[in-house]
Amino acid sequence: MSCATDNTTTYSISNEIASAMTRSVNKKPIQLMVNDQFYDAIVSENATLLTLLREELGLTGTKEGCGAGECGACTVIINGKPVNSCMVLALECQGAEVRTIEGEHKEGQLSDLQQAFIEHNAFQCGFCTPGMIMSARALLQVNPTPSKEEIIEAMEGNLCRCTGYESIVSAIESMGKPGGASEGGNMPLIGNVPLIGDVPEGGDVPEGGAVPEGSDPPGINEPEGVSEDE
Ligand code: FES
Ligand code: FES
Repeated sequence: MSCATDNTTTYSISNEIASAMTRSVNKKPIQLMVNDQFYDAIVSENATLLTLLREELGLTGTKEGCGAGECGACTVIINGKPVNSCMVLALECQGAEVRTIEGEHKEGQLSDLQQAFIEHNAFQCGFCTPGMIMSARALLQVNPTPSKEEIIEAMEGNLCRCTGYESIVSAIESMGKPGGASEGGNMPLIGNVPLIGDVPEGGDVPEGGAVPEGSDPPGINEPEGVSEDE
């Protein structure tokens, strides 16, 4: 990068300095709720929600697959709706309520939906599973007993490369049925080992200056321009 000061003199600055200047200029503060916890964060104008979750908040359960809105691996729930977090700017989430896979288990107990995925062998490598579960959770919140057709329609944006979709659909379909996983209560994490990518690799402590506070959360508003899962 260079800065021309007059017709005869040109001063050059390193790419590193130019990059640092750009970064500092373009960062802005936001506040949002993630899994019922209030966060202040400083984010770049072009940072995605996925980047904020993984790199600033340490919530690495949400996965990056295609990075282009095609695979659903990065699905989270924003204000009740499933969204590809790789396609949402962090700045758009000012005041939003976000739920990630880390919000599924409570006090060391897997959620009913996580338990259903295990019981139906609905994952192999598990990379797609956090996104699958968040899309399924969003569906179940508005339709606790979805039909097979409704499940397939709701999950069409989530791709899996190594497990048959049948078992995934069966796991979701089992929710709310007599004898289904939801009746069995939560299931303890086995030896505290994260079975399906729901525990942040960096521990529970947010990193990078994004500090959760105990104070009252801000008003939760629908962020403008947030795209729904496609
Ligand atoms: S990483 Fe594939 S849709 Fe976001
Ligand atoms: S379980 Fe491997 S991609 Fe779905």
